[in-house]
Amino acid sequence: MCGIVGYVGYREAYPIIMDGLKRLEYRGYDSAGIALQGEFGLFVEKAVGKIARLEEKTNGAELKHTEGIGHTRWATHGEPSSLNAHPHTDESGEIALVHNGIIENHTALREVLKNKGHVFRTETDTEALAHLIEEYYEGDLCEAVRLALTQVEGAYGIAVISSKNPGVIVAARHGSPLVIGHGENENFVASDVAAILAHTNRVVYLEDGEIANVTPSGYEITTIDKAAITPKVEEISWSLDQAEKGGYDHFMLKEIHEQPQTLLDAIRGRLNFDDGIPRLSGLNLQLEQLRNIDRIIICACGTSWHSGLIGEYLIEELARIPVEVEYASEFRYRLPVIPENTLFLAISQSGETADTLAALKEARNRGGMCLGIVNVVGSSIARATDGGVYTHSGPEIGVASTKAFTSQVMVLSLIGLLLARMRNMSIQEGLELTDQLSKLPELAKKTLQVEDQVKEIAKEYFHSDNFLYLGRGINFPVALEGALKLKEISYIHAEGYPAAEMKHGPIALIDEKMPVVVIALKDMIYEKVLNNIATVKARKGRVVAIATEGDDEIKNHVDHVIYIPETFRLFTPLLSIIPLQLLAYHIAALRGCEIDQPRNLAKSVTVE
Ligand code: G6P
Repeated sequence: MCGIVGYVGYREAYPIIMDGLKRLEYRGYDSAGIALQGEFGLFVEKAVGKIARLEEKTNGAELKHTEGIGHTRWATHGEPSSLNAHPHTDESGEIALVHNGIIENHTALREVLKNKGHVFRTETDTEALAHLIEEYYEGDLCEAVRLALTQVEGAYGIAVISSKNPGVIVAARHGSPLVIGHGENENFVASDVAAILAHTNRVVYLEDGEIANVTPSGYEITTIDKAAITPKVEEISWSLDQAEKGGYDHFMLKEIHEQPQTLLDAIRGRLNFDDGIPRLSGLNLQLEQLRNIDRIIICACGTSWHSGLIGEYLIEELARIPVEVEYASEFRYRLPVIPENTLFLAISQSGETADTLAALKEARNRGGMCLGIVNVVGSSIARATDGGVYTHSGPEIGVASTKAFTSQVMVLSLIGLLLARMRNMSIQEGLELTDQLSKLPELAKKTLQVEDQVKEIAKEYFHSDNFLYLGRGINFPVALEGALKLKEISYIHAEGYPAAEMKHGPIALIDEKMPVVVIALKDMIYEKVLNNIATVKARKGRVVAIATEGDDEIKNHVDHVIYIPETFRLFTPLLSIIPLQLLAYHIAALRGCEIDQPRNLAKSVTVE
């Protein structure tokens, strides 16, 4: 999720790299750095904050180098600081590396390297890779990178330079995007086309497991097993504005489509296929403490509050621990009862929401164990907790939260599984659920295929003034989130309701003009949901059902069916929310709304 830019050629690299980094800056990265290859070795500079801060630091330096790499960081391991910013260098300071992704086995690699005399200066996972490349270096940078990568588990898009191999950038990819920009007597490397589009629109996308030796005159691509690859040059016809959004019309749509990747990033290195006990070391809790939790209070706002509600269903059913979910804004002004052995869990994408932070402080004062599920590393909420789990969903630009939500639900599923395995769940069941979780990124990808169908449904209903979203059990908070998405970006009035509760009020609203979206998955209350649907149909409401693949029966009861793949019942929110996000998006697009920045809303609400 970080930004990478590299240049090797005949022009001055510094302005090209800085310009590329600035093109990515709007995503709100936390720090940046640059390494330039010169006559007297590497020039490296880094700064916290905006690219302008990095410019200030390099001000006055004679930077005529024609080769270099730059990076904008979205912290994952180690807080945003000048030291933790990329590029990272090896022991000798002769190799510089920028990295996007997560190196899962960095702790083990560090240990091995420390025993060989390497000294580490940062808290990052990336530094281990710089040292590892040095360890393998015998005169050929590309070969050293290749050998080092054979030892790496995790995801990476990297660019590496060395003062010992001038005129070469080595780039490699596994799980994080990387492109080579094709020029004349110059070439580029970037994580995003937007960073280099001002210079070339001819690019080669590296595939997973490929490594490229990039020089001013060309690039050689091989697989990590040394098989030669014939590069396929593609012409990009996007405008700069489109390129920033990865070719999508809006950030929100881009972020909806990123979910297979962000779900993968949320479980990366955390699933345990040996005993089904997820590895969540950031919780900083002893096993004994985890076992002794008697009660959990989840506090959050907005979409994060909805993920908390899903967490309630998940954790109570899996781990049999009572869970309460509170609006942070309410919690902070009550006199909450926090008995001993209560775990307080704050959920926040930004980590800066004022109400959630205040609720967390209140819980701390009353002696609760305080953990967080946060996206932004080093944010206020992350710092105010005793530990927690980062969601690793990368910068979210669209004000309406999508990928951050599913990552939160994924992390809550991991916490539920962990607590369950500490208490009542067998190893076999733990392993089955681990297997199911590992398949969800792929299932999310499959679910996204409903987009064309959703677009057609949107065309039919985008003039409606009201929408009702219904669900029961764990599908109820999904209904709430679906309704919230629609009202946030399309300004249509939408309400989420427990399907059976509808008869106590909202039923009065139903007529032939009222679209009702029902999450009607094949579970133990499916038949009852069919009854609720019948009640809507009897009043001429129009029903859009989100149903389980293979359920043909439901077609007889509703106007439209959108199918999602089957998964373990408690994990279905991760899939069922996707068509609802798409529906809100396409309705808002048809109504010509400002999707990424809806009126009156803010991405991060830092006031009460
Ligand atoms: C704002 C945003 C929502 C978000 C909520 C909580 O209202 O518009 O998308 O869900 O704040 O934000 P947090 O960063 O704490 O998750």
